[in-house]
Amino acid sequence: MDIRTGLGWDNHRLKLGRPLILGGVLIPSEFGLDGHSDADILSHAITDALLGAVALGDIGMHFPDNDPQWKGCDSMVFLKHAAKLVREQGFEIINVDTTIILQRPKLKDFRLLIREKLAVALGIGVECVSVKFKTAEKVGPVGVGLSGEAQAIVLLLRP
Ligand code: C5P
Ligand code: MG
Repeated sequence: MDIRTGLGWDNHRLKLGRPLILGGVLIPSEFGLDGHSDADILSHAITDALLGAVALGDIGMHFPDNDPQWKGCDSMVFLKHAAKLVREQGFEIINVDTTIILQRPKLKDFRLLIREKLAVALGIGVECVSVKFKTAEKVGPVGVGLSGEAQAIVLLLRP
């Protein structure tokens, strides 16, 4: 039996007028995350955690951010690709735990929607996907509203 864990982190600037997409869910907000793709920090962090668990590099290696193919891309594409890569290596995804650090807006009412969307993309039960939220207590770049961060950890099992 082969057990693996993987860690992911992402950070994007906030920008007025950009859509705020977290775990593939569009959150009502006057600002959103800026980036080459849809800048979904949560999906990016989970993608890196999955790739990390099987030592297959990182998201930028598979989806370069200077490649026009990925401009404005739905980050669920990256997430589904990483899940497929780990399954191709014979692993099943046991669980995913995440934290989004964003000063505002309040996200807790979107928790179930985000978990459901991620669970479908990952091909696992919603009870195996955890999404937590934190402010940065108004301190640092996240706290003053310049950026948002996400962290993810995954557990994989190869019977
Ligand atoms: O950062 P803090 O500990 O003050 O967050 C308290 C709670 O507020 C969190 O546990 C989370 O449920 C919620 N929260 C949220 N949206 C955020 C930040 C925090 O719903 N952007
Ligand atoms: Mg990113």
